[in-house]
Amino acid sequence: MSKAHSFLEQRLKERSEKGLWRSLKHENSLVDFSSNDYLGFAHSAALHQYINAETKRIAPGLNGSGGSRLLSGNYAYTEATESWIASFHQAEAGLIFNSGYDANIGLLSAIPQRGDTIITDELIHASLIDGSRLSLANRFKFGHNNINELEQKLKQATGNIYVVVESIYSMDGDAAPLKDMSELCQKYGANLIVDEAHATGIFGPSGEGLVMQLGLQNAVFARIVTFGKAIGTHGAIILGSAVLRNYLINFARSFIYTTAMPLHNIIAIRCAYEWLTKEKYTEQIHQKIDSYNLLINKLNIKNIQSTSAIQTLLFNNNSEARNAALQLQEKGFDVRPILSPTVPAGQERLRICLHTYNTEAEITALVQQLKELI
Ligand SMILES: Cc1ncc(COP(=O)(O)O)c(C=O)c1O
Repeated sequence: MSKAHSFLEQRLKERSEKGLWRSLKHENSLVDFSSNDYLGFAHSAALHQYINAETKRIAPGLNGSGGSRLLSGNYAYTEATESWIASFHQAEAGLIFNSGYDANIGLLSAIPQRGDTIITDELIHASLIDGSRLSLANRFKFGHNNINELEQKLKQATGNIYVVVESIYSMDGDAAPLKDMSELCQKYGANLIVDEAHATGIFGPSGEGLVMQLGLQNAVFARIVTFGKAIGTHGAIILGSAVLRNYLINFARSFIYTTAMPLHNIIAIRCAYEWLTKEKYTEQIHQKIDSYNLLINKLNIKNIQSTSAIQTLLFNNNSEARNAALQLQEKGFDVRPILSPTVPAGQERLRICLHTYNTEAEITALVQQLKELI
């Protein structure tokens, strides 16, 4: 075995011994309390039919895009969709990336320069961490949602300052105090960047996100909206000014040096957005969230308060969280454990995702099982 392979084996052995082995699993027939398909769009037969009909109409016979956006992979339809989505979110402009991961690394690696400062909440998503690591700017972290700590860091910051948060945190389900943060950013001349991955489709009158629900769309520097969660498709858009869009087209390497999304994917995104305005999906999901919270708050349970579709149940270590998930899976519920180091040790958890298609009976049955676990 080569030295490199021995190294790989050693790392895998250590991971396995720590109980942190990651492996891929196939789809299952359990009740879904785990996917990010909050509104059921990813498997909606009616939306699928609409996407197919639109694809036949707009892009007959097209498979791949054939190149990057700057070469042969751009379409008038893609740019029209970007404008359409930007106006849905009341932004001046938007630029689509192949994924939320790509959007975040593109944005944060391209904009903050040496001498500038990136200040991030300690719980931001890996893609935002990776993006800021690719930048030459100074980096500071503040305690989760801790406004006082954020202000301390703002006082120490130099150059152009970028404060990076999620509106709804992907592992905790709680919301950032965006109003306070936006006021602080204004006070210190900092630029607020908000990842709306888990707020899109859930908050705002038609699912425009938490930024719009709070009326902060003109106060933020950039928003990242991902399409792989409530929108049920794939990809992401960065929303902001027309100048920001032009800058990203010129400098964001994860936009420039990659093959553009195929047109059928763009059509799927556009159809899913149109779908979002057809029914009151935000009301439907909040009914389910309220039902769950009503039941769970009657139990003496260690969780993180959340009015989003992401709910948690906290445990003391990896094996407790893993065993709890296994027991729920045996009872027919697809609930996954989130283990350290993905979350801090001592805060290992079950991450329970609620969906419009979870019935009241399923939610009641899940809470009953949770009650038996604690
Ligand atoms: C907050 C947040 N941002 C970005 C991403 C990445 O988005 P994508 O899955 O489209 O790459 C995720 C995905 O898990 C996320 O939770």
